[in-house]
Amino acid sequence: MSVKIVIGTQWGDEGKGKIVDLLSETADVVARYQGGANAGHTVEIGDRRFILHLLPAGILRPNTVCVIGNGVVVDPAALLHEIDMVRKEGIEIEGRLKISHNAHLIMPYHKKLDSLRERGANKIGTTGRGIGPAYIDKAQRVGIRIVDLLNRDYLEQRIRMNLTEKNQILARIYRSEELDVESIITEYQEFDRLIDPYVTDTSLFINTAISEGKRILLEGAQGTLLDLDHGTYPYVTSSNPISGGACVGLGIPPTCIDEIVGVSKAYFTRVGEGPFPTEETGGIGEELREHGDEFGATTGRPRRCGWFDAFAMRYSTLINGCTSLALTKLDVLGAFDTIPVCIGYKLEGRLLKSFPTAARILEQVEPVYQTHPGWKSDISQITRWEDLPVEARQYVRTISEMVQVPVSLLSVGPKRRQTIIVPEE
Ligand code: IMP
Repeated sequence: MSVKIVIGTQWGDEGKGKIVDLLSETADVVARYQGGANAGHTVEIGDRRFILHLLPAGILRPNTVCVIGNGVVVDPAALLHEIDMVRKEGIEIEGRLKISHNAHLIMPYHKKLDSLRERGANKIGTTGRGIGPAYIDKAQRVGIRIVDLLNRDYLEQRIRMNLTEKNQILARIYRSEELDVESIITEYQEFDRLIDPYVTDTSLFINTAISEGKRILLEGAQGTLLDLDHGTYPYVTSSNPISGGACVGLGIPPTCIDEIVGVSKAYFTRVGEGPFPTEETGGIGEELREHGDEFGATTGRPRRCGWFDAFAMRYSTLINGCTSLALTKLDVLGAFDTIPVCIGYKLEGRLLKSFPTAARILEQVEPVYQTHPGWKSDISQITRWEDLPVEARQYVRTISEMVQVPVSLLSVGPKRRQTIIVPEE
């Protein structure tokens, strides 16, 4: 048995797509457990570049079965569009994709409410994909699920019930145009025959696969610091990207998890609003953005960039129980003479003992840095640990020590071959 979770340890965009793609070479099943089309997992194979929003990155391996678990919120139009996109690239999906009957749907009113709520002063900087409003409906027990697509009468009834309320909110609170109930019913009723071939009890499927000794890879989306419960609230997403979320979002027991791989960039980035203690807003930030091509895979927004925050990372690896780390984009740091790493925070002159997740506190902290020598060279074509400049190896070992988790994999570019296995010390 082998069940491995891949999670993001920062604010998303850590390069999970590439790591899941690499690890899925030896996986029988790859499953997504939370989030929705807000994710943008980039995988480069040869000269082809795929950006996957809902399909697990394992879809690019012909022998892997992919699962969209109950914890995911599915935009059916976006999913069908993505299926079409990979099919056009010659990737066969038939029999390889399974969607949980219990996964909730993103409806047009979720997207509309998401964008309207973002107009006020309390903006989160969401991706506008309707994620928050869909999870609100799930928790409020008025959500519409994948299984509901398979019964047209019930679906119609649920849409009518929801729209009666949502249209009042749109008109009265947001002074916005109401949505047309009939066209939404027609649009969503059409999804039944398109989605039906993939719908199943995915919890049963994965539990059976586990008992048969299959190799399972669980793919987290977003990152730990965006976790609804453990992230930098309120500037978070509406699901649980941490490793603990995998069990809830797939219906599998915690006792089956063997490994937890944390994916982290060699520096930090963030998209959207919210505190970011090591952010560099001037020239250094721009240099990181330029060298790292830091623009959102889903929205194209420029990412905010800053130095590696070992204090936040220690928090993150702790609550995820990471057994190893994959450090990505190490090549980007080759541009700098020296590389600061944040080792702690000061608040009103005193060192903090633990990572404060409340945004209003995190906004006030002052990062304390330790400076490391840079290697000032292009390492993007190096494939062996021994061939890396000594300063780069030291940087990696220092990070391992600071966050108390071994770094086992390095990524020095987007391609599969731009990967280095780190030997144990
Ligand atoms: P939402 O998930 O669209 O509601 O957005 C909430 C916050 O999470 C915003 O700051 C987004 O920028 C951020 N976010 C959501 N998905 C991702 C992702 O895949 N990568 C990075 N940030 C994300």
